[in-house]
Amino acid sequence: MKRVAILGATGSIGRQALEIVAANDDLDVCALAAGSQPLDGLAASFPDALTQVGGDLRDVLDASRPDLVLNAVVGFAGLPATLWALETGTDLALANKESLVAAGELALEAWERGGGRLLPVDSEHSAVFQCLEGRSAESVRSLVLTASGGPFRGRARTALEHVTPEDALAHPTWRMGPKITVDSATLANKGLELIEAHFLFGFAYDDIEVIVHPTSIVHAIVRFRDGAALAHLGYPDMRVPISYALTYPHRAPTPVPALDLAAGLTLEFEPPDLDAFPLLSLAREAGERGGTYPCVFNAANEVAVAAFLDGRLPFLGIADVVESALVDVDGRRARDLAELEEADADARRATENQLAAVWP
Ligand SMILES: NC(=O)c1ccc[n+]([C@@H]2O[C@H](COP(=O)([O-])OP(=O)(O)OC[C@H]3O[C@@H](n4cnc5c(N)ncnc54)[C@H](OP(=O)(O)O)[C@@H]3O)[C@@H](O)[C@H]2O)c1
Repeated sequence: MKRVAILGATGSIGRQALEIVAANDDLDVCALAAGSQPLDGLAASFPDALTQVGGDLRDVLDASRPDLVLNAVVGFAGLPATLWALETGTDLALANKESLVAAGELALEAWERGGGRLLPVDSEHSAVFQCLEGRSAESVRSLVLTASGGPFRGRARTALEHVTPEDALAHPTWRMGPKITVDSATLANKGLELIEAHFLFGFAYDDIEVIVHPTSIVHAIVRFRDGAALAHLGYPDMRVPISYALTYPHRAPTPVPALDLAAGLTLEFEPPDLDAFPLLSLAREAGERGGTYPCVFNAANEVAVAAFLDGRLPFLGIADVVESALVDVDGRRARDLAELEEADADARRATENQLAAVWP
């Protein structure tokens, strides 16, 4: 029996994970945590699970000592739990991409010390992980992450001036929490995923491509030096990568429809429009510069997305705000968690100040 701690249990990923656990006799929930919503309803199905709402989620991890942590908290708030799992050598199913983007090298160092498994839950990274399994690094030429393109794919930059949060939340292929849905509309999500892939798989940014694929059937492709390219296909359904991470290495049955090939699949690809969606280039640049630039990118983006959802910032303002934040900082490498938290807090303060000055 694998004892799983589900952090972010009230969210989109958390709820789907609970569905997977409930249907699998080899999995049990030993801890449930959320940010502010009560857990009573969810906890009723898992009477032995410890629960925690808000506060430092390392407390419920210390108390429950899980075999595997599913980190499905949204945003930088997920960082302490990611580091806890990596440092203690507890297997980590990671949905919370922001923590790996922000903590980068600190997280990798903790992972090396801890020695547990780091299993990606993001569908693209789960796909890359599966295509890479058993291959030598030198046989790989590049990774290709696919992006649906979000609800505004095909629109020119000028056509994005007046889009609303409601428009941005209408994602064409995935049903997700509000922050990642807006990130998908701006392509910041793909930028975060690019940095996440760099840290997870150890490839240089030049060797990680992003391609738009509107139907989200192909989740990622790995190109090999002999000219072969392996792709991972499936309908867009997060229960597949969640189940893979929770049941690794056994690949348990999951109640999702098989691809209907005879019905015809549309597999179209196109390059991302970096003029309309500059956050993808900004993320790549932040990743390549290294240090705390990815942390600052993430912090400014979190503040800007919250302001957009609150109606305080126009859609195109999200990229403007993030770009300014990256100019304002020195991006020096954080030597420890305290320095990283300081870089994150500084970037949030600078972004809030900029919002107050330009969009009061
Ligand atoms: N949804 C997807 O399909 C998908 C796909 C790939 C990756 N991801 C990644 O998975 C993560 C979760 O996404 P989501 O779509 O599931 O988000 P979501 O639906 O908004 O859920 C977020 C969860 O995080 C919890 N939370 C927020 N702030 C917290 C805090 N300070 N401390 C503890 N818990 C906190 C929330 O609790 P409350 O409800 O109490 O606020 C909620 O349970 C994100 O990093 C996202 O990028 C999601």
